[in-house]
Amino acid sequence: MIDNHSENLKLLKEDFGPDFQWGVSVAAYQIEGAHESDGKGASIWDIFTNTKGKIKDNHHGNIACDFYNRFRDDIDLIKELNIPNFRFSISWSRILPNGIGEINQQGLDYYNQIIDYCLQQNIEPWITLYHWDLPHALELKGGWTNREVVKWFQEFVKICADNFGDRVKNWMVMNEPIVFTGAGYFLGIHAPGRRGMKNFLPAIHHTTLAIAAGGRMLKNNLPHANIGTTFSCSYIQPHRDLKRDQKAAKRVDALLNRLFIEPLLGLGYPEKELPVLKGIKKIMQPSDNEDMLFDFDFIGIQNYTREIVKNSWLMPYVKASLVKAEDRKVPITEMKWEIYPEAIYHMIKQFNKYPQIKKLLITENGAAFKDELENGSIRDERRKQYIQQNLQQILKAKQEGLNIKGYFVWTLTDNFEWAEGYHPRFGLIHVDFETQKRTIKESGLWFKSFLRTKKSVKLNENEI
Ligand code: FCB
Repeated sequence: MIDNHSENLKLLKEDFGPDFQWGVSVAAYQIEGAHESDGKGASIWDIFTNTKGKIKDNHHGNIACDFYNRFRDDIDLIKELNIPNFRFSISWSRILPNGIGEINQQGLDYYNQIIDYCLQQNIEPWITLYHWDLPHALELKGGWTNREVVKWFQEFVKICADNFGDRVKNWMVMNEPIVFTGAGYFLGIHAPGRRGMKNFLPAIHHTTLAIAAGGRMLKNNLPHANIGTTFSCSYIQPHRDLKRDQKAAKRVDALLNRLFIEPLLGLGYPEKELPVLKGIKKIMQPSDNEDMLFDFDFIGIQNYTREIVKNSWLMPYVKASLVKAEDRKVPITEMKWEIYPEAIYHMIKQFNKYPQIKKLLITENGAAFKDELENGSIRDERRKQYIQQNLQQILKAKQEGLNIKGYFVWTLTDNFEWAEGYHPRFGLIHVDFETQKRTIKESGLWFKSFLRTKKSVKLNENEI
């Protein structure tokens, strides 16, 4: 464990090597607001959050961080923190209000301004094409359960490639497919709020096809782009040293960590561990095995914690349950996720076992804690330590020769945290949601000094 004197830690940016990518990640729905501005169509998250009882305290993203109107100021803050790479997502229904068909020029203009402003500030834009906000018009046609969604998505990807590809080099097709299909189409706790296997299985398969199809569309239109996609992952361990808990852990690992990456790499769905996935065969078409493949330039993994798993015959399909961190009496974040920095090291190791992955990046990692604004500053020691301890684990992996090429913090500013509303604060920068005032937290100030190198000082001489 690392003590409070984390300042004394020898954690140097230079140890990660000159080609290591440092960045910060955000997502459109969580920050933009302006949910009906300038021709934007509704997304499934607009509908879900404006339906009573879906989100904690009925919070919604109608205004969020007002990034839509404040993006220049927020990009200035990224620059102030010395962060060279900015990962943000495109709201599909801002560009195609009906999901397909007519293009909303004002939506394109908005993202063009963001891209241009980033470049002007020497910040490299990284686009995520889909971070969960499907146009509502497409959900009315079945959303991710309708096979047509693969074509709809390709159309959207093509428009983004055509309009942004002259300046944007780095692309991520999707964010965390297991989370939006699992929470949105199986558990019903995320938009669009559907439940059950009959929704989940088609959503899984069409998402897998869309990831590969999106990759191909980018490659065909932007042959020199750096093309990736992202997956969530949690380090899974058995509760007890029993065969049945070990097997349960394998099933949960298949569901949470392998379900989407393996078909993409040509390994198929992990049916051996999860026989229920055989149901996907019924909706597969002959060319699908081939069409699920795409050779990405990089894979982004996003890790926050580990999960402890035990056998549970009562749980349908997966026959396993999680032993909550709260019940285990271990340190947790505001999300009730265990603080276990070693998890990120184990996940880097696990994903390194796929020889097909060319480049591995951490595209999200961070923590939510209760932050107190005291005399204008936020002393979020625990967030700072969380990030430092995770970086130490990443450095360990790197020094062992594992493939790991970048680290993006989740996230820039406190924002709308999906089902949890505005309660968990993940930002390096505090937001007062009444006034939209931003205050850089101590964690942000630490990251800023960590990222300050001779090179960046030289680049921005007026900043010394
Ligand atoms: C990830 C999501 C991101 C954010 C963090 C905390 O699962 O990709 O949008 O909510 O968790």
